[in-house]
Amino acid sequence: MIEPEEISEVLSEYDLSKTTIGVLASHSALDVCDGAVEEGFRTYAVCEKGREKTYTEYFKAQRNNGKLIRGVVDNADVYNKFNEILKPENQQKLRDDNAIFIPNRSFTSYCSIDNIENDFKVPMFGSRNLLRSEERGIKRDYYWLLEKAGLPYPEKIKKPEDIDSLVMVKLPHAVKKLERGFFTAASYAEFKQKSEALLKQGVITRDALAEARIERYIIGPVFNLDMFYSPIEEEMSKIELLGIDWRFETSLDGHVRLPAPQQMTLNERQITPEYTVCGHNSATLRESLLGDVFELAEKYVRATQKYYKPGIIGPFCLQTCVDKDLNFYVYDVAPRVGGGTNVHVSVGHPYGNTLWRKPMSTGRRAAMEIRRAIEQERVEEIVT
Ligand SMILES: Nc1ncnc2c1ncn2[C@@H]1O[C@H](COP(=O)(O)OP(=O)(O)O)[C@@H](O)[C@H]1O
Ligand SMILES: [Mg+2]
Repeated sequence: MIEPEEISEVLSEYDLSKTTIGVLASHSALDVCDGAVEEGFRTYAVCEKGREKTYTEYFKAQRNNGKLIRGVVDNADVYNKFNEILKPENQQKLRDDNAIFIPNRSFTSYCSIDNIENDFKVPMFGSRNLLRSEERGIKRDYYWLLEKAGLPYPEKIKKPEDIDSLVMVKLPHAVKKLERGFFTAASYAEFKQKSEALLKQGVITRDALAEARIERYIIGPVFNLDMFYSPIEEEMSKIELLGIDWRFETSLDGHVRLPAPQQMTLNERQITPEYTVCGHNSATLRESLLGDVFELAEKYVRATQKYYKPGIIGPFCLQTCVDKDLNFYVYDVAPRVGGGTNVHVSVGHPYGNTLWRKPMSTGRRAAMEIRRAIEQERVEEIVT
């Protein structure tokens, strides 16, 4: 793990009055860039060839004497593969540009977490060591942390034979790299029948199935709680609720838009929905549940501070379902900017706006934190 001293050393070479915000050009990069320019920073997007145009062309920034006229991406580099960002000379380019880097899920997916922990010597906004907790199945993964925090999560079913009510079986997709091969089952018989069909179709592999996490399916709506923790806030709450999102998933959302008679006619290849995120939507919560949200966040923050020092910094996303008795269950945690925060790009979110009295997206909140830390000479407290 890159030590705080090493990052301090890098920072000591920075001209913080010329800080740029660096990001891997995918996932939530536009949100980050939009927020950054709104807070007066220049932006630096690291793109992959073939998927760069959104950043290099369509949202490219145009400035007139520094004043932004259009777009949000000031500077972009295009590499053959995202992971070329790790090359020493490319890291150097980020440092030469006084970049503070904001990690997103694409960064941790396309660049190995080992490399991010040990070799990416660019100051990162957030907690470097927590990123790994997202890898389901490792020793101290987010479920472990939720347990330590005393937070509610869907009960784990030890083996398929124990399935006695609806469960979610979580495993990676065999073909669609980085996507899910999730399926549900309500009994061992259904587990066997569905897994055999998915194996036959090449959607999942036997190895992945053996490692799959099986947990109770929480029947209820999804609320992804887009939270923020500010270590440098001294007067007011350090924990903020910025927004709540939920995702469009294919093919699940197509399935639920079909009337039952049509669903019944789907063939074996179509009958089991997939859960590939392809969009985001915004939500608010019944107000009496907001107290619970902050309690979940408080517990999560405390647990990260205890078990993953220095603990969470900046944005994080508690992905929850609410059951019929209004209990929250946390089924996933993103210890970084969540992808669903796209839904508040530029316009902000009801809760973030309510708090900050201006449009406050996650991207903007991150940039604002960096701005405040620079002003207070406390950047070392928010980067790792
Ligand atoms: N225990 C559960 N009960 C009901 N739905 C779940 C459960 N776990 C996950 N899901 C659904 O599956 C989707 C992805 O789950 P998640 O654990 O967030 O996977 P990933 O780590 O790939 O993001 C979510 O949209 C959520 O709606
Ligand atoms: Mg998730």
